[in-house]
Amino acid sequence: MNQTQNDATTSALLLFVLLFAATGVMVFALGPGTVRLPEPIDPALAQTGRWLWTDFRTPVEAYPPVQIWMDVSEGGVVNGLFSIYPNYPEIPAAALTLIQQNGCNVNFKSLGEATTDSPISGRFIAPTEARIHIDVSECAVKYYGNISLQESLQGDFVVKYNDAMTQSLLNPEPPTPLERGQNVFSLYCSGCHGTFAEGAPGIPSLHTDQVRNYTDYQILTIVRNGVINTVMPAWGSVLSEEDIAGVLELVRHIDEVLGE
Ligand code: HEC
Repeated sequence: MNQTQNDATTSALLLFVLLFAATGVMVFALGPGTVRLPEPIDPALAQTGRWLWTDFRTPVEAYPPVQIWMDVSEGGVVNGLFSIYPNYPEIPAAALTLIQQNGCNVNFKSLGEATTDSPISGRFIAPTEARIHIDVSECAVKYYGNISLQESLQGDFVVKYNDAMTQSLLNPEPPTPLERGQNVFSLYCSGCHGTFAEGAPGIPSLHTDQVRNYTDYQILTIVRNGVINTVMPAWGSVLSEEDIAGVLELVRHIDEVLGE
């Protein structure tokens, strides 16, 4: 081997070592398994309206149901709510019922960098998309107070602007009588008569000829006054006239709406 060849070999080797070292440093700098979040955008560019989550990732295998939404107003101002529906024996029964109705909640008023005392952090990454990280070990139950979760929950939400929801919040359509009736039914009646008005032991189905053959007046009277000496309550002083009219509408369309 002459001197020139020798030099070439040495520099090739040196280049290789340098390249390898550089790659090594880069791998180290990124860290193994580091997920790179997309760059944040100026929050002032965020679409105003209601945002809903579309994806949730967590390293935890089994976790209680969760949800998150937020309202974004001018300038990227945020008002959001993260809800979790824990269900374990240590939760007092009184709180459990409230959790089932309202969830156990964490309010958030901004999307910022993660800090130790903020369990919710995030960033807008596009005018209609944000990433939100949660690290929650305590949440508040409406009318009850705070509860500590058995295990804290970490995870990442993809949250996106939702146009349909925003429009319906901006211009709420008044419910039709039938829709009113359906709401009333699921709130006040389904507990006894069943989700599909199919009845239960001691409670009649509403899909019967007996009900079909009642006049409107008879149905309204049963609903307003209840049925004496039975557990069918009187609803006249509980429900508005519009709600009662809605219930009549529902009973008249019960087979279509709550088909068995
Ligand atoms: C606490 C349980 C309970 C709840 C809540 C309840 N019902 Fe009833 N309902 C009954 C029972 C029991 C009867 C049967 C009464 C009887 O023996 O005549 C009945 C009867 C009826 C009937 C007459 C059925 C028939 O075949 O004669 C209608 C209509 C009716 N309920 C509608 C409603 C509506 C609408 C609501 C909600 C606004 C409601 N009920 C809530 C228990 C309940």
